[in-house]
Amino acid sequence: MTRIFQISDPHIVPYGQLAYGQVDTAAALTRCVETINQCLPDVGPVDMAIVTGDLTDFGTQEEYHRFRTLMEPLEIPYRAVPGNHDDVPNMRECFADQSWMPTDGPINWLSEFADLTMIGLDSSAEGQAHGHLTETTLAFLKSTLDTHQGQRVIVALHHPPILTGIEKMDTQNLRESRELESILSGYDGELRLTCGHVHRNIVAPFGNVICQTAPGVSHAVNLDLREGAPNCLTIEPGGLLFHETRGGIMTHSIPVGQFPGPFPFYPDR
Ligand SMILES: [Fe+2]
Ligand SMILES: [Fe+2]
Repeated sequence: MTRIFQISDPHIVPYGQLAYGQVDTAAALTRCVETINQCLPDVGPVDMAIVTGDLTDFGTQEEYHRFRTLMEPLEIPYRAVPGNHDDVPNMRECFADQSWMPTDGPINWLSEFADLTMIGLDSSAEGQAHGHLTETTLAFLKSTLDTHQGQRVIVALHHPPILTGIEKMDTQNLRESRELESILSGYDGELRLTCGHVHRNIVAPFGNVICQTAPGVSHAVNLDLREGAPNCLTIEPGGLLFHETRGGIMTHSIPVGQFPGPFPFYPDR
């Protein structure tokens, strides 16, 4: 069995700052790492963690180094794809010592396990909030799926190709949804799409696959589905996803933090 934790949208800011003047994202990422480490004895062995974008808020070198420092206590290896708040050259430089980081081009990668193939895609577009899959990235996805036909696959990228009803996020969704759907529809095997960006746990069909967006580590995009809704965040409890290949790809949603328990339901039995 393969097991993967998914962390999304940590939005690390420079030392001494709060994201948007409101959110202590560094403290939240620390709690997230502690949450995973605490889970490991109960759910392990776990193969890897993935970070689905917006590692930093402004894409600066200082923020990337802070991100790496905050992730150091994580007891499993991790890899990441960029989001719209990331800066590809700075992210590449910060992770240049990691085997999964390409030396140039989009930050796409492939990770193969006994019963699962993980594909990471770069959906960032320099200076833009919306998602974009370059011809290079689309070709990488197509050729990788072609060589893994029939296998179980998770494709991870920051920008979801679906519309969520949250207007300000939907205007920033993935522009190449149709091209992505066309490539995925040609795949003959179990395939799951997992994203970030919306900072909410949402599950929806996308073509013939399931698309899920992960909750944010530290804050959420406000659930306001009205037309013209303002662009707001809420400091809801953070969360993360945990995928495992249990028959099919099964995904658990886990709140970030330490909570009372576990208590036996019937301690006297
Ligand atoms: Fe984000
Ligand atoms: Fe984003």
